[in-house]
Amino acid sequence: MNKSVAALGLVLAHLCNTSWGSEPGQDLFEQRCVGCHMINGAGSEAVKAPNLTGLSQAYLQRQLQHFRADVRGDDARDAEGQMMRAMATSLGDDEIKQLSQYVSSLPRQPAPKPERSAGFTGRGLYSGCTSCHGAQAEGFDELGAPRLAGQHGWYLKAQLLKFRAGLRGAHADDKFGQQMRAMASAIRDDAAIDTLVSHIGSLVGE
Ligand code: HEC
Ligand code: HEC
Repeated sequence: MNKSVAALGLVLAHLCNTSWGSEPGQDLFEQRCVGCHMINGAGSEAVKAPNLTGLSQAYLQRQLQHFRADVRGDDARDAEGQMMRAMATSLGDDEIKQLSQYVSSLPRQPAPKPERSAGFTGRGLYSGCTSCHGAQAEGFDELGAPRLAGQHGWYLKAQLLKFRAGLRGAHADDKFGQQMRAMASAIRDDAAIDTLVSHIGSLVGE
């Protein structure tokens, strides 16, 4: 083997170690989360698991802590929340940190855009959400408000219904959830929820 081939081998070996060598968060994610959230984090409607890509580390970490501490997903009527809570109960603090670090580093996988635009009504309704979630639904970490752009419409709708019915955001320790619950309770009716969700689906999140 000549020298340059050997050097190339070394470079390749180094690249393999850095780009494909698994970090703890990645291992955990692949062992415990991909069955529902998929290997790229984009989620799965079949099991009602949301898209995790594009969410901030702070938000992901808080949700995992809340599931683990029965602050979210504790209501017997919340089947999906209970499923996710069961996944979080065995996680240690370090594991939650590593998972949220890893998941927040995944490339964004935006859900397909809705076919129909919600037009003027959608924009009007969404104007009540921009102060926290941002004009393009990009989210605002300082206020604890997650990115909504790129999330599946069926998940957004389910969460708005859960907040409204007190299945999420009702726990005394859920400061951010309580704020969002108040916002969801103010949404007029189910038709307005549908309009909001299709409007959010049209936003680019930048
Ligand atoms: C058995 C299926 C399943 C597995 C496995 C699973 N999840 Fe979930 N996850 C769900 C479902 C369903 C929801 C939606 C809960 C709801 O509707 O409130 C969810 C919600 C979440 C949320 C909240 C997202 C948001 O936008 O608020 C996070 C974060 C999350 N999962 C992370 C994880 C991580 C990390 C793992 C691996 C440790 C994992 N999940 C494993 C099914 C699963
Ligand atoms: C006062 C600030 C505020 C306003 C205004 C607000 N939200 Fe929120 N929203 C939040 C916070 C904070 C959270 C995170 C709650 C948590 O940590 O569980 C949230 C969470 C959500 C979620 C759950 C996302 C997920 O990934 O699970 C949806 C959906 C949502 N908001 C939609 C809306 C819509 C639609 C409006 C307008 C009608 C709105 N929000 C207005 C603060 C706000």
